[in-house]
Amino acid sequence: MNAEPSESRVPGLPDRVRPVIRPRRLRATPVLRRLTQQTRVHPAELILPMFIREGITQPVPIASMPGVVQHSLDSFRVAVNRAARAGIGGVMLFGVPEHKDATGTGATDPDGILNVATRIAVAEVGDALVVQTDLCLDEFTDHGHCGVLSVSSTGDQFVDNDASLLRYRDMGLAQADAGSALLGLSGMMDGQVRAVRDALDGAGHSDTAILGYAAKYASAFYGPFREAVGSSLQGDRRSYQLDPANRREGAREVLLDVEEGADVVMVKPAMSYLDVLADAAASSPVPVWAYQVSGEYAMVEAAAAHGWIDRERAIDETLVGIRRAGAEAVLTYWAVEAAERWVRA
Ligand code: PBG
Repeated sequence: MNAEPSESRVPGLPDRVRPVIRPRRLRATPVLRRLTQQTRVHPAELILPMFIREGITQPVPIASMPGVVQHSLDSFRVAVNRAARAGIGGVMLFGVPEHKDATGTGATDPDGILNVATRIAVAEVGDALVVQTDLCLDEFTDHGHCGVLSVSSTGDQFVDNDASLLRYRDMGLAQADAGSALLGLSGMMDGQVRAVRDALDGAGHSDTAILGYAAKYASAFYGPFREAVGSSLQGDRRSYQLDPANRREGAREVLLDVEEGADVVMVKPAMSYLDVLADAAASSPVPVWAYQVSGEYAMVEAAAAHGWIDRERAIDETLVGIRRAGAEAVLTYWAVEAAERWVRA
């Protein structure tokens, strides 16, 4: 609908009220709207999370994330090349091991699936995009927690923060050795950024960057991810991830990760935490990214599959909203699709 002409008449109405200030002037035509668009999302600002599963020869669809698969090494090779051609900024790799154990030894094994996939990605597309790896134990532990478990004096099991840091240091070294350019520390253990930074620097990996999942909330929106990585978690992660009600705590975690030496900080999930994201964007001296998580993806896909929303408009609206709130890059399962569509448009 174009702007109204200066002379017009509504049948049945005597005249009209004439405002002086008319913001609609700049919305009147497609070219004016394009010229006055404040926020744009570029393919280079998108990062694709990818799942690579050990021991499969064909990709396995993830039912709760239509269009997303667990990759075999062969399908991963093809997909990572497509991601590079689409011009996205990076990929974030998650491994799905065949065998899990109490301390997640698959995470530190140089021949573990995540480290194998990392070497493949670096060889295939390491010059075209940033190959990044999830640094957390939950995919590799049989109990599904992000750290190792200890038994307290009262006989209760708990996620042992300080013992987990030892495993994170070794995992960081294994990932850096495999060629990961940026380690995504998503376990929410206190002191994890400093512990891993120190291990990397001590082993000659001072160029490997750290993304601190600084403000990571204990969210229901990780639901589909649990299927994606075949998680064996019983219970929840509320003793280490943030309470969704806490805005100040998110700001504190961002501050701490920056102090500990994070090169980039993250807010996760994205859409329910845009205020936390805006706070971080305003205060952080390092880049701030956001993770549009599996449940956010699943919600839009499910509603679109019912014909209840316009799928592509909804996707673009979520991405521009996250960008507008202050994220300089967005991890999203739509990264390649959106990049390819925008370049065609
Ligand atoms: C932990 C991790 C999780 C996600 C990314 N890294 C799961 C969790 O903390 O429970 C969730 C990502 C998503 O839902 O898309 N390794």
